[in-house]
Amino acid sequence: VTWTLRLLPDGRSCAPTEPLDLASAASLCDVLLDQPCGSKRTCGKCRVRVVDGDVPAGDADRRVLAADLIRAGWRLGCALVVDRDATIEIPPGARALHPKSFGGDDLFAGGFEPAEPDAIRATAARGRVPLGVAIDAGSTTLAVALVELRTGRVLATASSLNPQVRFGADVMSRIRHAQEHPDGNRQLHEALAGSLDELVVACAGEAAVTAADIVAAACVGNPTMMHSLLSCDVTPLGTAPFEGALRDAWHGDVAATGLRVLPSGVPVYVAPVVRSHVGADAVAAMLATGLDRASRPAVLVDLGTNTEVSVGSRDAFLCASAAAGPAFEGATIHQGMRATAGAIDQLRVRADGSIRARTIGHVQARGICGSGLVDAASELLRAEVIEPSGRLRPPYELPEAWRQRVVELPLGGRAVRLTDTAAPIHLTAMDIRQLQVAKGSIAACVRLLMERLGVRPPDLGDVWLAGAFGGWIRKTSAVAIGLVPAVDPERIRFVGDAAAVGARMLLVDASARERAHAIARRAGYVELGGTHAYADAFVDCLAFPAGEEVAA
Ligand code: FES
Repeated sequence: VTWTLRLLPDGRSCAPTEPLDLASAASLCDVLLDQPCGSKRTCGKCRVRVVDGDVPAGDADRRVLAADLIRAGWRLGCALVVDRDATIEIPPGARALHPKSFGGDDLFAGGFEPAEPDAIRATAARGRVPLGVAIDAGSTTLAVALVELRTGRVLATASSLNPQVRFGADVMSRIRHAQEHPDGNRQLHEALAGSLDELVVACAGEAAVTAADIVAAACVGNPTMMHSLLSCDVTPLGTAPFEGALRDAWHGDVAATGLRVLPSGVPVYVAPVVRSHVGADAVAAMLATGLDRASRPAVLVDLGTNTEVSVGSRDAFLCASAAAGPAFEGATIHQGMRATAGAIDQLRVRADGSIRARTIGHVQARGICGSGLVDAASELLRAEVIEPSGRLRPPYELPEAWRQRVVELPLGGRAVRLTDTAAPIHLTAMDIRQLQVAKGSIAACVRLLMERLGVRPPDLGDVWLAGAFGGWIRKTSAVAIGLVPAVDPERIRFVGDAAAVGARMLLVDASARERAHAIARRAGYVELGGTHAYADAFVDCLAFPAGEEVAA
């Protein structure tokens, strides 16, 4: 017997064959249920709504949830077992996300000049501690940090899924939504502002302050998100020349942002954009890494739903968008998943054909995440199970020890068995191809920007990898598969959520705003999509580096 679980608003479904708790079933669809009280059935924060299907309320539901909520279909997610067909809405508040980091305590170790001195003075005069919020509005994840403005210290952070996903997973589909619906721009704006309000309230609650003490805000995000925040029409961003109304930094009254929980009159700073799809988030990431001050040419790759690549130094820098697709987030990989419990994130291959796979949370492997994928490709290349062209060799071409590991899956084609568990995890030939396309598009971008600036690999200083995925990846593997230029792995730095760190700098520090302005003005934007140069470089970068190149 199988039954179908459909999740809203994602529209993803899975077909468990045995009764399964909702958290496990949802994770099969790559949706993570937040269980703040550790599923003790006391907090009620994991509540989900049964939209279709007969899912009776249990004792725990009746104990924690009000009768009218239960009548409306709400149930505790942590107590729900999927044992029949059902469609269940998992609201943003019940989803667990990789929490974004706004940087450490030493971010302002060198001191700073306050960005909002008037607000600080006025609040201090009232005997209150001046507070601000730094907002990183990503296409997928929204994150807010509550910050003490005089010290730059982070008091609380909160993240949620961007509610705009119900209008489309990526910015282009949301722009299309606005083009096709007369009310589309307003819907996008209200969804965003409403969620940001909730996050501000959550931060204030965690720090035991009131939102009324917040006297400044700074926001970063891609151009679509920033237009949406300020109620600007997003539709021009969907057609050539892809220019919207916002270009320079915006500094104005909170009333224009639709954020209702901040006191009226609070100044909000929105960082400037470089061009069309390279936005305030990219400027913030360049600021956080210090690309604009680097004495040697550096490379910044910010992996996300859109991957942005910037190359340069204090003399000149260029940026471009790479169409890397979602392979690193696991979406197009046969048994791919996000970097959460049960994902293979590191892997070692021995000459005898044995494979040691490490999973996040040290639990049984359920799939493979981006860093595991990079590691697997690198290790299988080293073992010559994969050729530099990306071809997965058939069993008859392999030494005896490998013959049992390379199999033909009924639906997945040729694959390497990575685990020896009852439900093994496989890496398919198609997965390897997807990885090649993703890393090929990034590597081609880096190569072309380096060429335009006349930078050769030996000239490079630092290579920064930003984005949630960056923190787990093994540096030597990133070099071995050609995801980043062949530099000394010591020069590769993981900078985490660089855009979020930049948002905090822009909230607190006046000189960061000056630098952001200069970055946006000076950064050259290179449109690579559709050019011959890009097509050629992409084909060139599809193959994995041969062994000698890696050694060099
Ligand atoms: S996780 Fe707290 S009630 Fe479900």
